[in-house]
Amino acid sequence: MNVPVNRRIVLASRPNGRPTAANFHLVSGERPEPGPGEILTRTIWLSLAPYMFWRMRDEKSYAPPVGLNEMMVGGTVGQVIASNHADLKEGDLVLGQGGWQDYAVLPGASVQKIDPAWGPSSLSLNLLGGNGLTAYAGLLDIGKPKPGETVVVAAASGGVGSIVGQIARIKGARAIGIAGGAEKCAFVRDELGFDACVDHRSSSFAADLAAACPNGVDVYFENVGGPVFEAVLPLFNDFARMPVCGLISQYTATDLPAGPNQVPALMRAVLTKRLAIRGFISSDFAYMREAFFKDTLEWLRAGKLRYREDITDGLENASTALISMLDGKNFGKVLIRVSPES
Ligand SMILES: NC(=O)c1ccc[n+]([C@@H]2O[C@H](COP(=O)([O-])OP(=O)(O)OC[C@H]3O[C@@H](n4cnc5c(N)ncnc54)[C@H](OP(=O)(O)O)[C@@H]3O)[C@@H](O)[C@H]2O)c1
Repeated sequence: MNVPVNRRIVLASRPNGRPTAANFHLVSGERPEPGPGEILTRTIWLSLAPYMFWRMRDEKSYAPPVGLNEMMVGGTVGQVIASNHADLKEGDLVLGQGGWQDYAVLPGASVQKIDPAWGPSSLSLNLLGGNGLTAYAGLLDIGKPKPGETVVVAAASGGVGSIVGQIARIKGARAIGIAGGAEKCAFVRDELGFDACVDHRSSSFAADLAAACPNGVDVYFENVGGPVFEAVLPLFNDFARMPVCGLISQYTATDLPAGPNQVPALMRAVLTKRLAIRGFISSDFAYMREAFFKDTLEWLRAGKLRYREDITDGLENASTALISMLDGKNFGKVLIRVSPES
């Protein structure tokens, strides 16, 4: 009998700066079998996200790096094809950490069963999953927007940013997006309903941002860092809050940027404007998961949250899709369709 093949993508070498396709390697082996308490899943959706750039580097961080020749990590939606766990049966859809592979064996206790009544299963990797909790908790627990305040969101057309601005609007704040290019800005404004969106690739970016925020900035949801942050900094109002969610412009940097040391000017703004800047990782907010899920499902069903997915077919194309995020080529939440949902 032929044993089905399991393809996996492993980290072949560590990037020096920007990753290339050569840093990844596709290997094939036999499909694994589940042990006691485990399930075997066929991967349907693989979520790609910027944190993966950090996991490719051999650096101490909030999570360990991926080892050389080890499989790339990643959140997945899979369909159970064999189960040794009492609560899960063949055909169930589950959210788990299946990684970059066709089939995954996972402890049954480590996955979350997906209810088809929630909508398309990919939502569990987006609004109803990590992206949703990141946006919800970072904005509401750290940003604390009040009605009428101005909330600025970087990478506003992307997975996290698109949700942040929509929740800011639901909470009665003005939402100003920052995105790369006219098409993304039009989507953020016209489809997602932000009050305005500013193109960070434009030569008049800093002036355009200032014009879009005539009352200053009360909350800045940071996804990007670099020149985008530098344009926001002078606009902060007293007591502004800044949830630092991500810094994608720096994930592949090998050195600090050249130029004068900006830290004293930053610290002066922190002191004189009494800024609250706080980094966070979504797992810090496990205690908000229940409220987040209930609110998000309600908002989705009421048509208050819209989303866009950037889907690439085929596990073999995952590395190219990941790298293209660095150029802003993705438009919406990045997903790999590894196999069709039956
Ligand atoms: N703290 C947490 O727990 C947590 C959880 C999830 C995500 N995150 C962070 O949230 C951020 C957004 O993640 P996501 O998955 O939603 O990605 P995304 O926004 O869907 O995609 C990344 C976007 O970042 C923008 N970008 C890339 N390089 C840039 C640069 N040098 N300057 C300005 N913009 C740049 C591009 O958009 P434009 O074309 O619009 O420039 C690109 O499309 C990332 O920094 C990620 O690490 C953090």
